[in-house]
Amino acid sequence: MTEPVLSFDDVRLSFAGVTALDGVSFTVNPGELFAVIGPNGAGKTSIFNVLSGVYRPERGSVRFEGTELIGRRPHAIARLGIGRTFQNIELFANLTVLDNLMLGRHHHHPYGVLAAFGWLGKARRSELANRLAVEEIIDFLELAQWRRFPVGLLPYGVQKRVELGRALAGEPKLLLLDEPVAGMNLEETEDMARFVLDIRDELGLPIVMVEHDMGLVMDLADRIMVVDFGRPIRTGTPPEVAADPEVIRAYLGAEHREAG
Ligand SMILES: Nc1ncnc2c1ncn2[C@@H]1O[C@H](COP(=O)(O)OP(=O)(O)OP(=O)(O)O)[C@@H](O)[C@H]1O
Ligand SMILES: [Mg+2]
Repeated sequence: MTEPVLSFDDVRLSFAGVTALDGVSFTVNPGELFAVIGPNGAGKTSIFNVLSGVYRPERGSVRFEGTELIGRRPHAIARLGIGRTFQNIELFANLTVLDNLMLGRHHHHPYGVLAAFGWLGKARRSELANRLAVEEIIDFLELAQWRRFPVGLLPYGVQKRVELGRALAGEPKLLLLDEPVAGMNLEETEDMARFVLDIRDELGLPIVMVEHDMGLVMDLADRIMVVDFGRPIRTGTPPEVAADPEVIRAYLGAEHREAG
């Protein structure tokens, strides 16, 4: 048996009376595309915020390649190799695609801004290496035609792709995608699905993906965890999860909650 890349173990998180996560456990294996689904407010984004050091849970353990993540700051976790995209795009709208991706590499700059003045030679070499890495991502995500455009002027689906590129620019060993196709039209969704699959299959990156688009999740995921009210109710392969009566009940219940 191979060791999991990520072990999320019995995590509990609450905000002044609201229990966001209530004993959530799962593991992600090397090269796996692991999806997290569940109704609005179920705790999906909270899982990502715990994983990336934004929230500190009151109980549990999160281990990435054997290293405990709880108690570490977001930049330290990024440096360990966890990259993420956000449910709402978080890019610099006035900066070009190229510059946003360069910023995605900031923790790869080994010298720091001040030190760079004394080490222009090394800094130039490091700038060049960063630039080459970013150009590769631009090719991989088919962003070449937009590379000099300010991100804010681009179609929504392309902006989501730039965000994926920004996360890849940090050369993560694990990628977290929070609703990568939310708000996209069919064509944009199909493009994004293709890139997500390429990231898993060509780059071999393990991915945790939160997504409401059930068709996409069923098509892409190796395994799925369903959460409801901060609790995991089922983890399994797509066919196992789709056939589970409790999952069906949670989704019907959610429709009633939203309708009511
Ligand atoms: N910073 C916060 N302060 C207070 N409550 C929060 C905070 N973050 C999350 N919550 C609460 O925790 C619960 C889980 O929220 P979370 O954002 O994780 O849900 P989600 O599954 O991502 O939902 P959605 O599908 O709408 O994105 C909700 O009740 C939410 O209101
Ligand atoms: Mg969310």
